Amino acid sequence: MQTVKVEIPQAESRYYPIFIGNNLLETAGSLIKDYIKANKLLVVSNKTVSGLFGEKLKNSLEKEGFNTEFLLLEDGEQYKNVDSLQKIWTKAIELKLERKDAMVALGGGVIGDVTGFGAATYLRGTDFIQIPTTLLAQVDSSVGGKVAINHPLGKNLTGNFYQPKAVIADISTLSSLPVRELRVGLAEVLKYGFIEKSCGLQKRLDTSFIEFLKGNKDLITSLEPSITGQMVKYCCELKASVVNQDEKEAGLRAILNFGHTIGHAIEKCYGYKGINHGEAVAIGMRGAFFLAKGKQLISEKYFNSCIELLDKYEMGYKTDKNISPDELYKAMQVDKKIRAGKIRFILPVNISEVGVFSDITEQEVINSLETLY
Ligand SMILES: NC(=O)c1ccc[n+]([C@@H]2O[C@H](COP(=O)([O-])OP(=O)(O)OC[C@H]3O[C@@H](n4cnc5c(N)ncnc54)[C@H](O)[C@@H]3O)[C@@H](O)[C@H]2O)c1
Repeated sequence: MQTVKVEIPQAESRYYPIFIGNNLLETAGSLIKDYIKANKLLVVSNKTVSGLFGEKLKNSLEKEGFNTEFLLLEDGEQYKNVDSLQKIWTKAIELKLERKDAMVALGGGVIGDVTGFGAATYLRGTDFIQIPTTLLAQVDSSVGGKVAINHPLGKNLTGNFYQPKAVIADISTLSSLPVRELRVGLAEVLKYGFIEKSCGLQKRLDTSFIEFLKGNKDLITSLEPSITGQMVKYCCELKASVVNQDEKEAGLRAILNFGHTIGHAIEKCYGYKGINHGEAVAIGMRGAFFLAKGKQLISEKYFNSCIELLDKYEMGYKTDKNISPDELYKAMQVDKKIRAGKIRFILPVNISEVGVFSDITEQEVINSLETLY
């Protein structure tokens, strides 16, 4: 097992651990007991995930004396809503959960986000443990403390920053993930390769993360435990480094949105159906590379090697021809990340380095979007 310590400036407890390893669910109770004072635990999950791992988790928590109850929400992004939040509050009230007790999120990013928001708001904050079971949740959503639900007018519009007391990333849970869901996480993993040097991590790998990803593609896509563990750990370290410098997204944290400006616009134009987040982000990263090449921010050689990496991981997705570049551009203008009416792009500026740009012209954006069909 490996541990990443996430340092949180200004928090009462200065850090929380992310435990990463194989078959950690079996020892989940003993892993978390030093980090919480709870007697009762409310585990929030869905039928899919709970059917796979619920019993194992329950046994391990009860072995350590935790009084453990489950709440199963419906499975899907559309249930990351106020009704699910209400169900969490109601169950917590019925169980007479006290502030020192804890909520545990067992599932992907949807369960993590809504449970985290439930924990942040129930009794003005009860302890919270994340047990992410998708690759995206292990490398991204469970790290950094953003919790949220969707609103009919937009995704993640209501939420908070609320850090967990501990995170358990059990690599073995990933083997039941559908391939398409695995790719969602891999798109975010590749993103870390493209932003690695900008994350400000002191101790990096011996090789660049892009080289690591190039060299270990087969082991990564077959989820070989040792390499997958190393990869998840390094992604968590990179994200933790960014979050540590900018917990509330005042500046640096924006780099984590590399590929997301175009990606979010694509998801929105598809009506969040028929394309998933990872596929949209993969197209978005490609668009960002074209934009940077057009502005001569990066060399032809680096451009080609990044496109090759995306292709190697079978991320050669295309945009639906029925959605025009103009429509995509309009969708970008209502993204919640725009500042003072300007669309902000995170663009590559060097090998594994990105910068934030607010001065990209409409024509430059349209030109890059046209390459994505
Ligand atoms: N908080 C953040 O910082 C942050 C960052 C990125 C994304 N997100 C959010 O994360 C959400 C997406 O998360 P996701 O991609 O994990 O999707 P998800 O939670 O919907 O999970 C995807 C699917 O996989 C299933 N599943 C989960 N674990 C499984 C397993 N081990 N085996 C088989 N099936 C499994 C789920 O039931 C679901 O059907 C979005 O709502 C997004 O907004 C949040």
